[in-house]
Amino acid sequence: MQIPNAETPSKPLLQLRGITKAFAGVQALKGVDFDLRAGEVHALMGENGAGKSTLMKILFGVQPPDSGTIELEGVGEVAIDDPRHALALGIGLVSQEPSLVPQLDVAQNIFLGQTEALGVVPRSQFQVKAREILEPLAPRLPVTARVASLGMAELQVVEIARTLARGGKIIGFDEPTSSLTPAERDGLFALIRQLKNSGKGIIYISHRIPEVYAISDRVTVLRDGRAVASRATKEVSADELINMIAGRRLAEELQHSAKPVVRAGGTEALRLEGISAAGKLHDINLTLRTGEIFGLAGLVGSGRTELARCIFGADRKNGGSVYVNGKPLDLRQPSDAKAAGIALIPEDRRKQALVPNMDVERNFGLANFQQYSPSGFLRLKQRRQDIERYIEEMAIRPRRAGVRIRNLSGGNQQKVIIARWLQSGARIFLFDEPTRGIDVGAKFEIHELMRRLAKDGCALLVISSELPEILALCDRVGIMRGGQLVQTIDDCSGLTEDLLMKYASGEVAR
Ligand SMILES: Nc1ncnc2c1ncn2[C@@H]1O[C@H](COP(=O)(O)OP(=O)(O)OP(=O)(O)O)[C@@H](O)[C@H]1O
Ligand SMILES: [Mg+2]
Repeated sequence: MQIPNAETPSKPLLQLRGITKAFAGVQALKGVDFDLRAGEVHALMGENGAGKSTLMKILFGVQPPDSGTIELEGVGEVAIDDPRHALALGIGLVSQEPSLVPQLDVAQNIFLGQTEALGVVPRSQFQVKAREILEPLAPRLPVTARVASLGMAELQVVEIARTLARGGKIIGFDEPTSSLTPAERDGLFALIRQLKNSGKGIIYISHRIPEVYAISDRVTVLRDGRAVASRATKEVSADELINMIAGRRLAEELQHSAKPVVRAGGTEALRLEGISAAGKLHDINLTLRTGEIFGLAGLVGSGRTELARCIFGADRKNGGSVYVNGKPLDLRQPSDAKAAGIALIPEDRRKQALVPNMDVERNFGLANFQQYSPSGFLRLKQRRQDIERYIEEMAIRPRRAGVRIRNLSGGNQQKVIIARWLQSGARIFLFDEPTRGIDVGAKFEIHELMRRLAKDGCALLVISSELPEILALCDRVGIMRGGQLVQTIDDCSGLTEDLLMKYASGEVAR
């Protein structure tokens, strides 16, 4: 006999039923069922655009569903009006795009909007609390640092800390590790395990298969707005998972793309001599040849992004010379680099390379003003023809030049940025985290595109924190630590993730 009000352990914390959501022209969710139990980590996977973030935003009250129901344990069916309401119901979300206030410091951001709950608490006490929450994630991040001065990884950590500070029984993490270092990720995983053991329910979104195995109990795959499978994680193989995410085609292609062909060294494309930048880079010497992909590995903060930005003229260097095709060049600003055939594909593509509200065609034209308006008169027809050619060749989806670029998936945005640089005639490509936040299918396509650039005689410098990416793509690898290029590995056969990690952290030297 069932005792009234007794807790039934099998009843889920959260039950979503038949959730649908359409945006102008896109049916993002087509009747999704999803449930979450107390004490479980439920991973949510799927290609870019599959609908993962949309589902999370509905749960967090950012946007209402068109139809479907949300039921919470002990509460019943709810209509979640806005994020405030979601928080009051015990639902928290670490969103994919950190939304912090740049003018405020770290501690202020973590407790933003919570002053009522905390009462009139002196600032120093806030800071102590903030420190406690940050400890396992980023022990060295000062809580008094202004958020405007932080890099991507630190922003992500603050976003996570802010959600954790608000408590809640259900917490969604939307690609929380896309910019984190392995150490920060391990800290986050330890935190997630604690949350789980204290009976909370965790939804974990990631494109990284090893992470899903490391942290989740169950995995649900969304494809094209539908939940195609929900399985116990330990009962699915990685191949099955890739099949569920991307369809059978891809699993086979991925098998074949494991190792790069060894390319014969071409001629010198880019040479760096003694590059230094105040406090950030020290005496970097490096030669990049045509037809090669040179990987830069190292921990976040080791100076890799700074180096790329210095070469590109986006940041000032205060010593050293850059040679392009053997000629010394004075690169003071990005337009100088561009004129020398150097392209930078930055880490934070949405902020640094795109104008989100402009369409694909205009974004494509951004670095190519001169080409399309030689006499101040915009050659629109030419621009349209060019972008349409790239859309075909690079399989950019959707196939429409007039769609706003913010509605494209990360992988497709990245293709548009590459197309822009190809059009401008770039021959030296600096890629900073080229596939961050990009799903397995699109990642494969971007990698193929990069290999094709090298094959066509371009020189590629690739910064990546994903060691498998470095191993799969690069002919040679440089390791950066503390602003220095501490070693260069010319023969990558026998190189493993483990070894790379050890070089990067300084545990072993070659
Ligand atoms: N505000 C919006 N306006 C128009 N279309 C949108 C909007 N938000 C999402 N979409 C579209 O809905 C679909 C689902 O997007 P969503 O962001 O949920 O995907 P995702 O699975 O989170 O992808 P990713 O792995 O790239 O983060 C996509 O086609 C996207 O372009
Ligand atoms: Mg998303």
